[in-house]
Amino acid sequence: MLLVLFFGFVALCNCEYVLIDKREDILEPEPLVPLPDGRIVGGWPVNITSHPYQASFHNWHRHSCGGVLISPNWIVTAAHCISAGPHRYSFRLGSHLWASGGTILVGTYLMRHAQYNASTIDYDIALVRLSMAQSVVGDTIGYAQLPPEGWHPTPGSLATVAGWGTPFAGGSLMDELQEVDVPIVSNESCQQFYSELSNRTGIFITDRMVCAGFAAGGQDACNGDSGGPLVVDGYLTGIVSWGNGCAREGYPGVYASVPYFVPWIKELTGL
Ligand SMILES: *[C@@H]1O[C@H](CO)[C@@H](O)[C@H](O)[C@H]1NC(C)=O
Ligand SMILES: *[C@@H]1O[C@H](CO)[C@@H](O)[C@H](O)[C@H]1NC(C)=O
Ligand SMILES: *[C@@H]1O[C@H](CO)[C@@H](O)[C@H](O)[C@H]1NC(C)=O
Ligand SMILES: *[C@@H]1O[C@H](CO)[C@@H](O)[C@H](O)[C@H]1NC(C)=O
Repeated sequence: MLLVLFFGFVALCNCEYVLIDKREDILEPEPLVPLPDGRIVGGWPVNITSHPYQASFHNWHRHSCGGVLISPNWIVTAAHCISAGPHRYSFRLGSHLWASGGTILVGTYLMRHAQYNASTIDYDIALVRLSMAQSVVGDTIGYAQLPPEGWHPTPGSLATVAGWGTPFAGGSLMDELQEVDVPIVSNESCQQFYSELSNRTGIFITDRMVCAGFAAGGQDACNGDSGGPLVVDGYLTGIVSWGNGCAREGYPGVYASVPYFVPWIKELTGL
């Protein structure tokens, strides 16, 4: 009976319900050059009021990833940030410090995209349903705006990415929220930038991804920024996903494309 309900439920949902007994090593970074790791280099500290939808996603009470509040009940993050059931995760919202302030929330359902593939880092998006609705709080907690269907960022337009991730590959987390501006890179150029690496690793730039960064590097997301927001013209455009190292010349940061996933997000959340 439970099994039927379970499959009935899953059949209705293009997603994966991650349960408590899930393998916990399923998403550990592989010993490849491109780390499926969130990743802010060359940025500056910023108040939470600039990114009131920004969440610090905690794994055993320690910052592990970013997240983005999109409605009273839902947070978007990266699929590779989730490797276990909801019991070990919580979210801090409304603070520019990941370790204090604001408010702590917990999730009841963690839903990775059903087509998420840890080897190719494709479909690297997940939704978390909060156990209690979170309303807007002054200018410190608010909802990110999803782009309208059919909207795409123009290559070259400036995108802002934020997070508490490391200031260089392998560094330590930042206490205060940081942000940096990076230009959107067309998928075609991004495929070219990654061509040699893709041929070598089997990790390709797909339609589910959007890239941002300077050809010369220097500014980027880095380890611990995963799951956080990339915003263009006020729209949530990307979720920090992966890159070849951080801020390296010739390797833009790669994000899960929110425009691509808007229908999926709407279907699951009813937004
Ligand atoms: C954050 O806001 C406070 C109060 O408005 C201000 O004093 C501080 O300089 C701001 N910090 C940053 C990094 O913008
Ligand atoms: C992930 O993608 C690789 C390469 O396309 C494929 O071989 C593998 O079966 C996929 N894994 C899953 C779980 O779909
Ligand atoms: C990359 O392709 C996806 C899917 O077609 C699209 O949503 C996204 O806007 C493209 N990105 C760029 C910069 O062209
Ligand atoms: C990657 O493989 C494709 C298809 O085989 C090829 O056209 C392209 O030149 C390769 N890129 C590099 C940098 O080797």
